[in-house]
Amino acid sequence: MLFAIFEEVAEGREIKYPRSAQLIGTVGAGKTSSSLLVGAKLEERARRVGVNLKHVYLNLKIEGLSPFLFYKSLLEKLGVKVSRSVSAEELLKKFIKRIEASRDELFIITIDEVDYYLKNVRGYGILYDLTRIHEAANGVLGKLVGFIFISRSKEWVKRLERAEASTIGGLVIYYPPYTKDQLVDILMYRASEALRPGAFSLDVIEYIAEVTATYKGGDVRYALDVLQLSGILAEREMCSRIKLEHVKKAVGSLEPVFTSLDIEALGLHEKVVLLAALKELRRSRRPSLRLSVIREAYRLLAENYSLVPLSEQDFEIIVEKLADLGALELRGITRISLSPALNERLLEEAIKEDLRVLEGRGCQPRTSR
Ligand SMILES: Nc1ncnc2c1ncn2[C@@H]1O[C@H](COP(=O)(O)OP(=O)(O)OP(=O)(O)O)[C@@H](O)[C@H]1O
Ligand SMILES: [Mg+2]
Repeated sequence: MLFAIFEEVAEGREIKYPRSAQLIGTVGAGKTSSSLLVGAKLEERARRVGVNLKHVYLNLKIEGLSPFLFYKSLLEKLGVKVSRSVSAEELLKKFIKRIEASRDELFIITIDEVDYYLKNVRGYGILYDLTRIHEAANGVLGKLVGFIFISRSKEWVKRLERAEASTIGGLVIYYPPYTKDQLVDILMYRASEALRPGAFSLDVIEYIAEVTATYKGGDVRYALDVLQLSGILAEREMCSRIKLEHVKKAVGSLEPVFTSLDIEALGLHEKVVLLAALKELRRSRRPSLRLSVIREAYRLLAENYSLVPLSEQDFEIIVEKLADLGALELRGITRISLSPALNERLLEEAIKEDLRVLEGRGCQPRTSR
């Protein structure tokens, strides 16, 4: 369906206005991944008929902290270098110029997490400017051929001015939550890619799908977290197969605790403390660590990231908060262990993302918790 909406423009047919579509659906319903997939397919289709189409994906939660950062990201994705000393308005002009100057390229822009942006950042500047860009600059007509807006609910359109809302258009694609059967298919596919044959069974996959469909609104991200954690637990017990008991343990520890979304919600130094503890536990091969050991590991890791480590008091406040959240398990200051649900790779990625955002804002990382 999404592909069909944009197929014509991707093939270079002339249009009066850009096509647009909204993808609406709950957490983990597959909106982001299908926009990326369809974007790539459209590029491929265009290539086959000799059209140079670019799909540009932007996530407002990550890249939309200010109009400046948004346009900087957008321009960089189009191969334009941006210096710090320009204003957001100048960047918008640069973007228009970039589009106008292109000879044979067509562009489709996807903007993800629109509702998050409208909830958390004042002003509608970016969406206003983008959706009215054709009125301001004739030269982009016929080149900027499509917009895809992604959001968890439709509410955000109501909050726009009527003119913008009409540009965004009425084509809405709903992404219902994944059903149990769909989750089984997805999990089987992902497990076959990530695990050895024989390391999982249909029973286990069906159980994860059932729990996810029943208690987690079909959130596929949760299902994948459970699968991954079950694998880690099985491995830790030297089992060659994931058993139901591993999945139950995984569900139990993920329930109140950490999914990838929870990691995202932590402050930068909180993530660094967790990552330091995780690395130190692995290095030392001990089941738990002393507080002073974690503090030293945190200090070194923070410096590695060019961050000024927090004071001892602030560090302890963070440790307490992480324990309250269930990421750390405290049994006195001599025995601190970690929730088995924590994922080193996700933490590392989240830290890098935070650092990128801070750098973009020109902030001192130190002040950010
Ligand atoms: N059909 C699928 N097959 C395999 N993996 C999938 C499928 N759909 C989603 N996923 C995976 O599930 C995760 C979550 O999907 P996605 O990010 O697309 O959800 P979303 O609807 O954008 O959620 P959110 O509203 O939280 O952003 C991703 O890691 C994605 O790769
Ligand atoms: Mg998404």
